[in-house]
Order: sequence, then structure tokens, then C-alpha cells
Amino acid sequence: MTADEMKQAVALAALELVKPMLDKDAIIGIGTGSTANHFIDALKPYAGDFAGAVASSDASAERLRAVGVDVVELNSAGTLPVYVDGADEFDPHFNLIKGGGAALTREKIVAAASQTFICIVDGSKQVGVLGEFPLPIEVIPMARSLVARELVKLGGDPVYREGVVTDNGNVILDVHNLSIVDPKGLEAKINNLPGVVCNGLFALRGADQVLMGTPNGVESLIAK
Ligand code: A5P
Repeated sequence: MTADEMKQAVALAALELVKPMLDKDAIIGIGTGSTANHFIDALKPYAGDFAGAVASSDASAERLRAVGVDVVELNSAGTLPVYVDGADEFDPHFNLIKGGGAALTREKIVAAASQTFICIVDGSKQVGVLGEFPLPIEVIPMARSLVARELVKLGGDPVYREGVVTDNGNVILDVHNLSIVDPKGLEAKINNLPGVVCNGLFALRGADQVLMGTPNGVESLIAK
């Protein structure tokens, strides 16, 4: 089984969990990335059965429209019953690193607006301690160097993601060489740096459920 086949399998497993929620008033939250794309594609036969979706990126919004799902502004949607999205890493407590696709800020907003966050990943995303995947930070452009210096003080090695502008008009710093033993503490600390819009640690609001694709099928994991 390829990594892409595992991503498709977890997307289909997530659909089985979400299907009972899809009534005419239901608005669901949708993430960004190759695994979320499989979930969007799987929604196609059900597009007429629910009210719509809030997307965590322009790219996902476009893909949702292409399969016939109405895209709804979060401000008109209220609390969402469920958010389905991938991750770049997850730990045993379902703390996540996200933002490899630069959509972390809207992902964090939609996750915060959702009652349940179902995280869909292939097995390569499972780690004991977060930080092998460089931690993405969305930064106001004029603060890039200031924030980078502060991140060095926190023990990281920030690298400017050249040529990338987020959907919000900002830039991304990817912080290498962090061993994240206190994800909630580090998330709060980075959030407090002037110029930081959002960081890719999803620990204060992590995932509620992780579905992981393996060569032997999809595992529904239990948080430790
Ligand atoms: C997007 O900004 C990310 O948070 C994605 O959710 C993450 O990078 C996972 O992407 P894949 O599903 O493509 O692995």
C-alpha cells in the first residue's frame, strides 16, 4: 500500500464517522492537504445531503466547490459539529504539528470552532515527541527577522519558507531542531511573540480522534 492509498483509506474511514452528521442543516469543517483532499473527493456523492462546509484554505474551498459542496463563511456558520484534517506529526497525546501546507492559521481557527476534530494521517506522521518535522510559524512580513531571532532564543533554527505567501498575506518560518517536550507551553510562548500570527502546534486544542492509515488497514487510536 502506498502512502497515498493509506491517506485515501483514512479519508474514507473518516467519512463513515461523519456521514451520520450530514443532514440538511449540517455545516462541517474541512482541512487542507493531500489527505484532506481525499476526504473532500469522498464527499462528492453526499454533496446535496448537507448545508455546506467551512474550508481552512482557498485551495480546499476551490476543491469543495468542484465536487458540489457549498462553501460557507465561518462567521455565518456558528459552532461546527466536526473538523476533518490531516497533520504533519502527532504524538501519543494527540498534540499535532500542522502547517506544512501553510494553512495553519485558518486550520487552527476552524478546529477551534469545531466540537470534534478528527485527524486523518498515514503512519509516517506518528512520533513519540513532536519536532522532527520543522514547526511552521505564520508571521507578519515586517516581523520576520525579529521573530526569527526570538525563535533562536527558544532553541530553534528558523528557516524562511521562500516564495510562500499564506492565504492571509503573511510569510512562514519553519523552525528546525526543536524537541517539543511541552507542546502546550511552547504553543503559548510562541503565540506571545510580537509579529507571530499563529504557530503550527495544535496542543491547546489538539485532535480528539486520530485515524491512522497503515499497510494493514486503518487504526482508530486512543489518546494517552
Ligand atoms: C496544511 O497546512 C497542513 O497542516 C496539512 O494538514 C498537513 O501538512 C498534512 O498534509 P498532508 O495531508 O498532505 O500530509
